[in-house]
Amino acid sequence: MSKKILVITGSPRKKGNSFAMTDAFIKAAEAKGHTVTRFDAAFKKVGGCRACETCFSTGKACTFDDDFNAIAPAILEADVIVFTMPVYWYSIPAQIKGVIDRIYSLVVGGKDISGKECALICCCEEADESVMDGVRIPMERMCALNKWDMVGEVLVPGVLNVGDIGKTDGCARAAALAEAV
Ligand SMILES: Cc1cc2nc3c(=O)[nH]c(=O)nc-3n(C[C@H](O)[C@H](O)[C@H](O)COP(=O)(O)O)c2cc1C
Repeated sequence: MSKKILVITGSPRKKGNSFAMTDAFIKAAEAKGHTVTRFDAAFKKVGGCRACETCFSTGKACTFDDDFNAIAPAILEADVIVFTMPVYWYSIPAQIKGVIDRIYSLVVGGKDISGKECALICCCEEADESVMDGVRIPMERMCALNKWDMVGEVLVPGVLNVGDIGKTDGCARAAALAEAV
């Protein structure tokens, strides 16, 4: 079945490791007939949540109108949301955290966002996979709270520089993730 997949990226490195895996996933997903929308958060203007709780009062998801409002309808429509990012200081990069935080507006706005599939693609420099816990655990908990099904995680440690991902099976695993959605 063809699905609407939204891919939200968090790296500012266009030729970087998580983008390479993102590209591999998208290519495989499109080859399977899925429709993919991509939102490169690091190249958009998305601030943090102001916790004003006035979501949807202007008709748009967020009262503070920036690029989050452009992607909010795609989040609502998506069957599958794939988050891709590197680890920054054992955590989620600021570039994508604003998007994640402002998914709150859809909840406060009373939108039914349950029943989606979700997946995570992540990488980091250090060799220990638990370095990605600071990304993986909050993403899994957000999924659970939103009643999303975490259908796959590609977690690749040991990649620092642009191109390092080519020395791993990360892109092959990201492409294989398209089988899980
Ligand atoms: C600001 C910053 C913080 C980082 N923090 C960590 C870290 O805590 N642990 C780690 O293993 N790698 C860390 N890294 C390395 C990146 O996770 C790594 O280079 C990754 O491959 C970058 O992915 P990208 O090419 O998709 O941007 C950090 C890199 C930057 C720029």
